[in-house]
Amino acid sequence: MEVLSFFILVITQLGYSQKLGELCLKQNTRTLGLCTPAARCESAKREYALNRIIPTFCERFETTIVVCCSDNTLSIGSVNVQPPTQPLKAPSPEPVPRPTNNELRVSEKKCAEYSNDVVENINVTAGISTSKCDYNKQHLIVGGEDAERGEFPHMAAIGWINLEGTYSFLCGGSLISPNFVMTAAHCSKYAKMRIPRPVIVRLGDQNIKPEKFDGANPIDVKIKSIQNHPLYKSPGKYNDIMLLELETEVKFEAAIRPACLWSKPDFEEYTTAVATGWGITDPRTQRTSDELRKVSLSLFNNSFCKSVLTPKRNRNWPDGFRDTQVCAGELRGGKDTCQGDSGSPLQVVSRQNKCIFYVVAVTSFGPGCALKGTPAIYTRVSSYLDWIESVVWPEG
Ligand SMILES: *[C@@H]1O[C@H](CO)[C@@H](O)[C@H](O)[C@H]1NC(C)=O
Ligand SMILES: *[C@@H]1O[C@H](CO)[C@@H](O)[C@H](O)[C@H]1NC(C)=O
Repeated sequence: MEVLSFFILVITQLGYSQKLGELCLKQNTRTLGLCTPAARCESAKREYALNRIIPTFCERFETTIVVCCSDNTLSIGSVNVQPPTQPLKAPSPEPVPRPTNNELRVSEKKCAEYSNDVVENINVTAGISTSKCDYNKQHLIVGGEDAERGEFPHMAAIGWINLEGTYSFLCGGSLISPNFVMTAAHCSKYAKMRIPRPVIVRLGDQNIKPEKFDGANPIDVKIKSIQNHPLYKSPGKYNDIMLLELETEVKFEAAIRPACLWSKPDFEEYTTAVATGWGITDPRTQRTSDELRKVSLSLFNNSFCKSVLTPKRNRNWPDGFRDTQVCAGELRGGKDTCQGDSGSPLQVVSRQNKCIFYVVAVTSFGPGCALKGTPAIYTRVSSYLDWIESVVWPEG
C-alpha cells in the first residue's frame, strides 16, 4: 500500500524537466542526487514510507517515473555499486519539521544546472578506482581544443596592471556563474599598481606565467564592475567578500566552469576542506607562487575558533572571530604550503560527484603561513548568500 500511494503521489506531482541519469538537487536534504527511476530508488521509497518526505521529481520517461535519488553515488560512472542495506528505523510519530521552507535557493538551482554538464566517470581496474571528469556539453566542444582538465576549474587569478604595464596577479577568486567571480573585499584596491582596482580575471590556468607551457589554455576576461559587500569597511576584517562582474560571459568547458556555493551554516560531515591559491597571502607582500597549489585543512567549529582566536583581536578585528567567518588550518603547523591567497576558495568536493566543488568560504586573512596553533580566517559563504544571489542572479 505504501508503495502504491507513493506512486500516486509521484504522478500528481510531475512538472520537472531533468532527465534520467542527470544530476539533480534533492529538495529535503539539498544534496546532489541522480535522476533515477522511482521504483529503483530505495531511499525515496523509505523516506516517503517513514516520514512522508515527498521526493524531488525529475521527469516521466515513458511509463517510468524518475525521481532525484541519493541511493547510489557511483552509478554516475560506469560502475554500479549496491547501496548498503540499512535496517529500517521505526517510523517517527510525526515528520521532522524542516527549519526552512522547501523552496530551493536560486544558488542551489544554479548549482544543479551548472553541474549537469559534468559527468564523473569512475573506472575501476584491479580494485583501484580513478575518477575522470567529462564535460559533455556538445556545443562547447566545437573548437576542439584539448585543454588539460584543471583540477579546480573554477579557480580565478585576479590581475592588476603594474607600473611596468604588465599584469600582477595578487588575489585569487572563484568563478560562480558565467559572469561573476567571488573574491575577498580587501582585493578591491591596491594602491601600488598603475590602476588601483583589479582589471582582469584569468581563468583555466595552472601556472600563472604566460610563457610557461603547462597544457592549460587560460583565458583573460576584463572586469566590468566591482561590488564590495555593502558592510565591508577597509581596513576592517569583517564582511570581507566581493563580487567581480565580468565584461563577457564565460563559455564553460572542462577546465573553466563554476563552483557551487555551500548554503548550510555548518559543514555537516566534512571535517576538512581544501584551500587553493597561487600562494599570495596578502597583496602588500607581492609574494607569488607561479603554480596553483592546494592544501587540505581542518575545519573548526565556531566555539573553538572564538576561543583560540580571542587573543588575536585588534582594532580592525575588534570582536575577534564572528559567526560570519570560518577558521581552518593545521594546528600542528608546519605544512609547507600557505593556506592560499586572498580571495581564493576554501572548498569541499561533492560526495555525489567528485568533479563538483562547493565553496565554503573565501580566504580573508591569517596571522601567518603554517603557524603552529593558529588557524586562518575565511569569510563564510553561507552567511552572505542573500547578497550574493541578489547580485549574481537578480532575476531570481
Ligand atoms: C580504465 O583504466 C585502465 C588503467 O588505467 C585503462 O587501461 C582503461 O582504458 C580505462 N578504461 C576506461 C573505460 O577508461
Ligand atoms: C568544537 O571543537 C572542539 C575541538 O575540536 C571540541 O572539543 C568541541 O566539543 C566542539 N564543540 C562543538 C559544539 O561541537
